[in-house]
Amino acid sequence: MGADRVLPRKVLLGITGGIAAYKTPMLVRALVKAGAEVQVVMTPAAHDFVTPLVLSTLSKRPVLTEMVDRGPGTASWNDHVHLARWADLMLIAPATANTLAKMAIGICDDLLLACWLSAECPVFVAPAMDLEMYRNRSTRANIELLKERGVHTIGPEEGELASGLIGEGRMSEPEAITDQLIEAVMGRSALAGVKVLITAGPTHEAIDPVRFIGNRSSGKMGFALAEEAAARGAQVELITGPVELTTHHPRIRRTDVTSAAEMAEAAKQRFPETAIAILSAAVADWRPAHVSDVKMKKQDRLSALELEPTEDILAWMGGKKKGQLLVGFALETSNERRNAKEKLERKNLDLIVLNSLNDPGAGFGHDTNKVTLIDADKNATDLPLMSKADVAIAILDRAEKLLTHAK
Ligand code: CTP
Repeated sequence: MGADRVLPRKVLLGITGGIAAYKTPMLVRALVKAGAEVQVVMTPAAHDFVTPLVLSTLSKRPVLTEMVDRGPGTASWNDHVHLARWADLMLIAPATANTLAKMAIGICDDLLLACWLSAECPVFVAPAMDLEMYRNRSTRANIELLKERGVHTIGPEEGELASGLIGEGRMSEPEAITDQLIEAVMGRSALAGVKVLITAGPTHEAIDPVRFIGNRSSGKMGFALAEEAAARGAQVELITGPVELTTHHPRIRRTDVTSAAEMAEAAKQRFPETAIAILSAAVADWRPAHVSDVKMKKQDRLSALELEPTEDILAWMGGKKKGQLLVGFALETSNERRNAKEKLERKNLDLIVLNSLNDPGAGFGHDTNKVTLIDADKNATDLPLMSKADVAIAILDRAEKLLTHAK
């Protein structure tokens, strides 16, 4: 699945020893703000230009430089292969002429270079150096060679250089580097610019002004889907029941609702504009037929609550237009696959995500989930127990493929 990942969610940031390294604390901040987890690896020379303390504080991770960290009587190995595999992308900024030259011939005399040689993820470099160094034919040849081998370059820009000369060689500004990374990574996603509707959380069906019928849904799965879709460039409409969660991405428009009827109204209104609808909310199937305006008293001796069905939003969406993609969830406790397949057909879905309450660590409240994806051809894929963020990646990877095939 790693190869399908399209997000700059885990960024290995290599910092080399150039004056532009003074901009890297702002770069770490910009990347973190864009939703990335950042692991900084510095060359020894970079320490002359920026302190590890500020970078580790901003990235909330220890900054690494040496292949082996030695303490009194101890030594620990900074595993470059593991670091390279951890990363969804590697960015070297600033990239000095020296590091670019070493990259071009495969020299491996520091941790940063060892990571780059091990990296299978996309690699970006933001060269920064003085005018003549950048113009030098060796530097140009090294950069061209790296480009031919798939390394992406960002900048450099024209402007005043540390030497006082004016010309090409300035490292791009942190915001511009971050924007270019996001564009480059998002441009590969079929979700870029696509409208995605997601329902999340439980619904509360009022009995009286203080009591309601609800369920244990935390909303975590739906929120993970919203963040992942937005990070891939989708415009997300998130309609959520009452949850204790916050959204982070600016491309998520959140609508808070309480009851199934409110969720249905908001979802139906937005559905005509939607390319992909993913209904992960645990919507109440029943609501009290009569809602008391005042708090019911014990003396009222209520012996039974009359219930009426709520509208099935997913079933309503089953009457979709050609090309709209509909993903539903099923929480089953018995005859799981058979019930899920039957639900997929009955509600005219393209994909159903089957949760089983029988799996430890899966379902309501947990940060992990264990699901089976079943498509309209009834092909079932069992996924292992994984974080809800990773389940969101798997669901959206599949949705992207279905979207591409539908075009
Ligand atoms: N759903 C919905 N509106 C409802 C009820 C459910 O949109 N009023 C959606 C859920 O968000 C989920 C899917 O339908 O994506 C499965 O919900 P579930 O309650 O399991 O479906 P039912 O068909 O009601 O299942 P069952 O017959 O097993 O109760």
